[in-house]
Amino acid sequence: MTVKQLQVSAIKNGTVIDHIDSKNTFKVADILDIKHEGQVVLIGMNLSSRDLGKKGIIKIEGKKLTPEEANKIALIAPDATLNIIEDYEAVDKKRVSLEDELVGIVKCFNPNCISNHEPIRTHFHVERKDPPHLRCHYCERSMEGKDIELL
Ligand code: CTP
Ligand code: ZN
Repeated sequence: MTVKQLQVSAIKNGTVIDHIDSKNTFKVADILDIKHEGQVVLIGMNLSSRDLGKKGIIKIEGKKLTPEEANKIALIAPDATLNIIEDYEAVDKKRVSLEDELVGIVKCFNPNCISNHEPIRTHFHVERKDPPHLRCHYCERSMEGKDIELL
């Protein structure tokens, strides 16, 4: 019999972001709109994981992610899984995935791009999801890796 022990205590209802590349755990926490909502948040990092080596995990009581938050997580931690917890059970589990179009989520790397000069929302076409490769709708600049800066 395998004995299962949680490394970070269980939550009753909410969202668990699991399998975060450990070094990006706090980057993920930073983009979540959790600080002013009075929610219970549990964060673990450098936890051992069968497939990732070391992983981070964030558990938020009473929270559902917005599509914008889910897209940002997919950019920072493409291997993360999102678990919906209801009454202590994981009722839904899926890998994060970028949507095909990102509006108002990342900044264009091209200093001459109109989106950096006019009050318009940035807009990127997702040409590849993992690792992310984006193309600006306005100036057609392509971006990947460190060029991708969240707004
Ligand atoms: N979890 C939690 N609170 C609960 C139930 C689950 O915080 N009441 C967390 C677990 O710690 C785990 C994730 O939600 O990080 C998914 O739970 P579960 O599917 O039960 O765990 P595993 O089978 O170990 O998940 P995986 O195969 O995705 O690693
Ligand atoms: Zn641009």
